[in-house]
Amino acid sequence: MPLVTNRQLLDEAAKGGYGVGAFNVNDMEQIQAIMEAAKETNSPVIIQASRGARAFAQDNYLYHLMLAAAELYPQIPLAMHLDHGNSFETCESAIKLGFTSVMMDGSLKADGKTPSTFEENVEVTRKVVDYAHERGISVEGEIGVLGGIEDGHGAGGSGLEHVTDPDQAVEFAERTGVDALAIAIGTSHGAYKFTKKPDGSVLKMDLLIAIHKRLPKTHLVMHGSSSVPKELQDIINQYGGKLKETWGVPVEEIQLGIKNGVRKINVDTDNRLAITGAIRKVFAETPEKFDPRDYMKPARAAMQKVVAQRMTQFGQAGHAGDYTAISIADMAKGYANGTLSTKPLVAAR
Ligand code: 13P
Repeated sequence: MPLVTNRQLLDEAAKGGYGVGAFNVNDMEQIQAIMEAAKETNSPVIIQASRGARAFAQDNYLYHLMLAAAELYPQIPLAMHLDHGNSFETCESAIKLGFTSVMMDGSLKADGKTPSTFEENVEVTRKVVDYAHERGISVEGEIGVLGGIEDGHGAGGSGLEHVTDPDQAVEFAERTGVDALAIAIGTSHGAYKFTKKPDGSVLKMDLLIAIHKRLPKTHLVMHGSSSVPKELQDIINQYGGKLKETWGVPVEEIQLGIKNGVRKINVDTDNRLAITGAIRKVFAETPEKFDPRDYMKPARAAMQKVVAQRMTQFGQAGHAGDYTAISIADMAKGYANGTLSTKPLVAAR
């Protein structure tokens, strides 16, 4: 199947009442792990690359690896998404390269660190939406600011510093016309999200539910959604790692989110943990080995296992064959003639 847009994947997920994992990649083995997991579970999937990943892998390598994935797995609907674009120019370059979906994270200024004003966020996001929709490409915006830092992008600090205001979420969705909306509900990027199993005082699921009630048809996005499982932490520490005790977002909270409008769930850290644990194990148990395949194969398999598990838990498993791809040209026509609505349905308070 040719690469499809997030908008199509998320519209289908809304119809089916499930969520779609968006998994970050930097290299071929991670793309292979995700595609094998998608095949194993028969899942549609979003693969995303941050600015850091684009710099690490180089755009052309990334793009052609994604084309290879689409070619090798014609049965899997697959979107190629830019994670945390920091400016119009970053989004424009991704679209020119062939990404089928971009995130304009206007919650931060172009430095990727300083929180922006609401008006600045609306202005840059709207500009990206106009440019992208004309070309059939979907756009995710962010209102409120996530905690932590990922690949050098982020305001740092706790996830509670800039949680999303529901009134602003409504105004932002109305004024920008985004296809999906990332909200800040206390999560942060990276392994160190919570110091104990999170409850409602630090993970604001009530806020998510309130936003969904106001924007019942908007596809919500949960960033910072790795669960940071203890067993993956333990493998790393058992083989010489030094992770401090930490908690992520429990899968049951994500499932509650999916019942309340969450359609895209961003996961990166869990896969990083799985890969690192598997490599450390090989290094510790067989220090005489030096063929990269001896540790990259188990690393890839460990990531595949985590991704397949999340695909099943998010409900996307079994849905790969539900639909065929809408071409990017037809998506552009849909935005132009209004069949792909960009006006959110807003419910009364
Ligand atoms: P995690 O660090 O929780 O995996 O979050 C990844 C993410 O939100 C990417 O945008």
